[in-house]
Amino acid sequence: MLKKDLSIEFMGVKFENPFLLSSSPVGNCYEMCSKALESGWGGIVFKTVGFFIANEVSPRFAELQKERAPFVGFKNMEQIAEHSLEENLAAMKKLKEDYPNKVLIASIMGQNEKEWEDLARLVTEIGADMIECNFSCPQMTSHAMGSDVGQNPELVKKYCQAVRRGSNLPFLAKMTPNIGNMVEPAYASMQGGATGIATINTVKSIVGVDLEKQIGLPIVNGKSSVSGYSGKAVKPIALRFIHELKTNEKTKDAPISGIGGIETWEDALEFILLGCETLQVTTSIMQYGYRIVEDLISGLSHYMEEKNIDKLEDLVGKAIDNIIPAEDLDRGYIVYPEINKDECIKCGRCYISCYDGGHQAISWDKENREVSVDKDKCVGCHLCSLVCPVKCISKGEIKFKNENENREISL
Ligand SMILES: Cc1cc2nc3c(=O)[nH]c(=O)nc-3n(C[C@H](O)[C@H](O)[C@H](O)COP(=O)(O)O)c2cc1C
Ligand code: SF4
Ligand code: SF4
Repeated sequence: MLKKDLSIEFMGVKFENPFLLSSSPVGNCYEMCSKALESGWGGIVFKTVGFFIANEVSPRFAELQKERAPFVGFKNMEQIAEHSLEENLAAMKKLKEDYPNKVLIASIMGQNEKEWEDLARLVTEIGADMIECNFSCPQMTSHAMGSDVGQNPELVKKYCQAVRRGSNLPFLAKMTPNIGNMVEPAYASMQGGATGIATINTVKSIVGVDLEKQIGLPIVNGKSSVSGYSGKAVKPIALRFIHELKTNEKTKDAPISGIGGIETWEDALEFILLGCETLQVTTSIMQYGYRIVEDLISGLSHYMEEKNIDKLEDLVGKAIDNIIPAEDLDRGYIVYPEINKDECIKCGRCYISCYDGGHQAISWDKENREVSVDKDKCVGCHLCSLVCPVKCISKGEIKFKNENENREISL
């Protein structure tokens, strides 16, 4: 297996690769974390610990499917650790002793300033390399914790100051996506002493309703609750928030650990290109196991080899400037779809979508099951390319709206 040097320095700590377990059941005890580290993960964010011990419901998960694809999105109703604080501290201490070259990040959640300070001190004493402050779990049974705190910049700042009093370690503030503007709490956390930002935690959701019983999912003795959504479906939301943080004057220099729907090396690379230096994963590990790290490492290594890139840090943030405000986009041309007739399987889906959801620009020869584009009607939206099951519609001829214009276009 091709292995490039994927090491990176993040918030003053050296990581052998950027891939970490995110805080969740995938890093719940010594045995699980040990197996993950042996499988190749660069580090772990241990399941959030606190003085509050969670009492969980059963069942606690539900999924969103589309056309029978499982786990498009994943809903969980879990809170923080179910084991005692002492047990978790002992597990983390042993992990650091047994794996000194891997990075141990302790995720903590307090209910008041004193608890945040005490927790920061305790995890520092057992040898954690970093702390992550969980300001973002959306299904805590107490409103003194979780995403209710993360939506309140003043509280975030106060609790970060408490963490800083309890520890000199670098620490991440983990943000909630259940907010319109992430810059405010992220900036408040930096003012309170946070070294970087971890984002995103789960998105508040109702993932489905059982139609027979007329109860939301999962059903807990005849009822359900709003709770956190993760997995592939949340990746676009995560990327959007990360870009927002990386382009705002107040937060653009904050180191970011990216989280949300990372399954493949391509997903991971997207987060890196938008400015993340480390990456955290839960849902895809719950579905496929720790071994996905092999694909993450090998895929990223091959990409770097192909692009002649020796250091991972040379990729960080490369796509940030290519996402610009809508008003600055070039609106001066139309690019027409080009159908490759040799590859077309004559399914007619492009015709149906263009007719019912587009601009009636594709005609359908019923006799021969052939499609063709009428350029007088086509607006170049490319809905047809997206629905084509064999992807035989590409970008073709360019027409400039101002006919006198002719210039190079990057498609
Ligand atoms: C079952 C489950 C439990 C979680 N528990 C925690 C937790 O204790 N602390 C925390 O900060 N995030 C927790 N999370 C959120 C994840 O760490 C992560 O931010 C989120 O799931 C998005 O990443 P993903 O799409 O890779 O799962 C949990 C997520 C899931 C699915
Ligand atoms: S680009 Fe849009 S308008 Fe043109 S043929 Fe395709 S779906 Fe129809
Ligand atoms: S959707 Fe694709 S395969 Fe189907 S008719 Fe259109 S071009 Fe052909």
